[in-house]
Amino acid sequence: MALNFRGAEAVVTEISWAGKSAISKFRNPRGYRHPDLDEKLIRERLRNEARLLEKSAEADLPVPSLYSVNLNGTLIMEKIEGPSLEEYLKSNNDLSKISDLGHLLSNIHASGIVHGDPTSSNFIVSSKLYAIDFGLGSVDDSDEARATDIRVLLESLEGHHSDLNCRDTLLAAYSKWNNSGPVLERLRVIELRGRYNLMRG
Ligand SMILES: Nc1ncnc2c1ncn2[C@@H]1O[C@H](COP(=O)(O)OP(=O)(O)OP(=O)(O)O)[C@@H](O)[C@H]1O
Ligand SMILES: [Mg+2]
Repeated sequence: MALNFRGAEAVVTEISWAGKSAISKFRNPRGYRHPDLDEKLIRERLRNEARLLEKSAEADLPVPSLYSVNLNGTLIMEKIEGPSLEEYLKSNNDLSKISDLGHLLSNIHASGIVHGDPTSSNFIVSSKLYAIDFGLGSVDDSDEARATDIRVLLESLEGHHSDLNCRDTLLAAYSKWNNSGPVLERLRVIELRGRYNLMRG
């Protein structure tokens, strides 16, 4: 069993599940929270992630198949082969993946889901682009939540891959979705608000 990744809360290990490569994701209780509250939060995040993976799969979105949920705090899912988008973009100057990303995010939104943490480490470049890590996601069809998702993604791309002109490519792909208009308008308002607050200090 290889430890792949240990984040702030999740411990991700590669395992074999019914003969297939799988990922086990375990949420670590955090010491500084009250243990009962901790357990409740962990169970809620886990259930949330499982629910959103299932809803995404029903909508035919490219996400890992869910194999098992154990309410002690473990999810077992399909392992998606390939580098994270963050790693991929470090060695490939490939704007077509940013275009795929814009389409994928609009498909996620069109299915009524908001990802909640769409950073470039939460997408995997495989036969197609996959989305993972729905632990902070929600079922939400508001323009505000959708625009916030786009903003988080743009900030992640600008932070990690500032040499590529990701913004225009991402927004052009997202805007192909016929419900994108009010979302992009809301994004503009949110960004203006941010700049105004920055100016006022
Ligand atoms: N299904 C999967 N297939 C392949 N790799 C995965 C899969 N799930 C997770 N990983 C790898 O493990 C890393 C961490 O997983 P994930 O992003 O789900 O956890 P996290 O960021 O710690 O989660 P959270 O923010 O919910 O606490 C990912 O960036 C990815 O490299
Ligand atoms: Mg993650």
